[in-house]
Amino acid sequence: VKRIVILGSTGSIGRAAVEIIRSAPDRFEVVGLAAGRNAGEMIRQLEEFPAARFTMRDGEALAAVTERAASAADRAVGYGGEAMVALITETAPDLVLNALVGISGLVPTMTALEAGYPVALANKETLVAAGELIAPFLERNGELVLPVDSEHFSLSRCLRGYGDDTREIILTASGGPFYGRDPADLAGVAVSDVLDHPTWKMGKKVTVDSAHLLNKGLEVIEAHWLFRFPLERIRVVIHPQSLVHAIIRLRDGSMLSHIAPADMRLPIAGALHHPDVYDFPWKSLGLDELGTIEFIPFESGQYPAFDLAIVAAEAGGTAPAVLNAADEAAVGAFLAGRIGFLDIIAWIEEALSAHRVKPVRALDDVLAADRWARDFLAERHSRAERG
Ligand SMILES: NC(=O)c1ccc[n+]([C@@H]2O[C@H](COP(=O)([O-])OP(=O)(O)OC[C@H]3O[C@@H](n4cnc5c(N)ncnc54)[C@H](OP(=O)(O)O)[C@@H]3O)[C@@H](O)[C@H]2O)c1
Repeated sequence: VKRIVILGSTGSIGRAAVEIIRSAPDRFEVVGLAAGRNAGEMIRQLEEFPAARFTMRDGEALAAVTERAASAADRAVGYGGEAMVALITETAPDLVLNALVGISGLVPTMTALEAGYPVALANKETLVAAGELIAPFLERNGELVLPVDSEHFSLSRCLRGYGDDTREIILTASGGPFYGRDPADLAGVAVSDVLDHPTWKMGKKVTVDSAHLLNKGLEVIEAHWLFRFPLERIRVVIHPQSLVHAIIRLRDGSMLSHIAPADMRLPIAGALHHPDVYDFPWKSLGLDELGTIEFIPFESGQYPAFDLAIVAAEAGGTAPAVLNAADEAAVGAFLAGRIGFLDIIAWIEEALSAHRVKPVRALDDVLAADRWARDFLAERHSRAERG
């Protein structure tokens, strides 16, 4: 029985993980749950997993759980980032599933890795902002971080046994809801249009990132660190059907791909059951369902958000942390109706151009760059709003 802590248990990935664990109760025991503000879902999960201790994002959310659920007060570890760290160290799990969104996932990931607990990592922001700090753990033990992102899970399957013979990694991108649209037409798109992804049902932040393809840039950075693969040998191709999730090209020129339905339960279950390949209890893909599979060249210059991610990755140091923080701040402002869709790209560009890149040697370097980007944008745009 694997003892698991789920960080972000109330989110899209977290709830899918709960479903997977429910499908194999003899394999897993949930010993820890961490969530943001969804008290109702946490109360439900605490009933389902009686051995779990838990944390919430703030005191109000914690009180909303402890006041409504019997015995919750005894099982609460606390609230905020420090409580998530305590949850990990006090439960000493066999695996931490990090399904948090944003930079809040960074410190818990580092805590788990430093203690030697494997991390099933959905929280790509951790690798984007602090890949340099995660890389040494992966050098010592490549199995310490298990990819949950569908492309990276697929890549890990393709690369098994072929790591040294792989010439090129190719990530597929659906193109998002606006594929084929003239970028100039997108200034006034509504939040609901941006959140209407054609192939994946995900949390809001990653869905917005996918709509302007910044997400694909974040995934290139993620692949670079996870598989210790040079950026210039990672390519992207548009594949609107989202059935082929990754392709590798070997030194002999032949290619291997991984084909699966657009169902996040597959990579999440793959990471939870790792190293076993398990019987997937849900629908698999029939060959007769594949239909037409298209691969369309991904033109650099067509997706400015993607290009900014690559610029930041190439600059290295604190630049990717600034990219990530600026994106989080801008996506938050967009979802709150304060800025337009294309302003997200403008905010990222402003922060990256103003930032003086520093080397990343310790966690504080990343957290300081993250703070700097958020303060810079808050200051600059509140001034703009005041006129
Ligand atoms: N969803 C997908 O299909 C998918 C696919 C690939 C990769 N990913 C990656 O997986 C990660 C999670 O994505 P998601 O779509 O599952 O996001 P989501 O639905 O927004 O869920 C995020 C989770 O994190 C919790 N949370 C947020 N801030 C927190 C904080 N400060 N402290 C504690 N908990 C906090 C939320 O709690 P509350 O809801 O209770 O507030 C929720 O449980 C992201 O990095 C995303 O890029 C997601």
